[in-house]
Amino acid sequence: MIGSLMMCVSVVVLLAGMLAGIVMGIQQNFLLGPAHAHLNLVGGVLLFLVGLYYRLFPAVGGTALARVQGWLHMVGGILFPAGIALVLGVSHAWEPVAIVGALIAMVAMVLFAGVVFRAERKRVAAVTGQIARVTAT
Ligand code: HEM
Repeated sequence: MIGSLMMCVSVVVLLAGMLAGIVMGIQQNFLLGPAHAHLNLVGGVLLFLVGLYYRLFPAVGGTALARVQGWLHMVGGILFPAGIALVLGVSHAWEPVAIVGALIAMVAMVLFAGVVFRAERKRVAAVTGQIARVTAT
């Protein structure tokens, strides 16, 4: 299930991101701070929360849209910070990697908005139907 995979990937990302933070602190070199921040937040915390949503609502997490969304989030959540690190640490020639990563992460978030809106609309319709049936009897 995509939710479980997302949660497993996110904790590995967080371990790597926190280790990178410790290395930055030891070396007193904070050049890669923005890459560390985006890796931990987009590829770690946000990925875990979206994966958790799919685990809490398995009917939603089992859809093809959720699978596409999850894979895009995993790819974008790692590619985007990697691109930032390459731009800051190597050369501006790596900007396309950061831009493509950011766009993939953005598309993943747009799809997640669609997943949530669709699921909530269905839930509201189901509850409204139940209330209508109860009041009709
Ligand atoms: C062992 C755990 C961690 C260590 C040792 C660590 C270390 C650091 C260091 C050394 C900096 C740079 C500070 C500076 O520029 O003056 C930093 C920045 C930052 N960290 Fe962490 N960090 C850790 C975990 C996390 C986690 C879990 C998150 C988010 C979920 C996070 C988010 C951020 C953010 C948002 C910044 C600011 C980046 C910026 O100003 O460009 N960090 N961290």
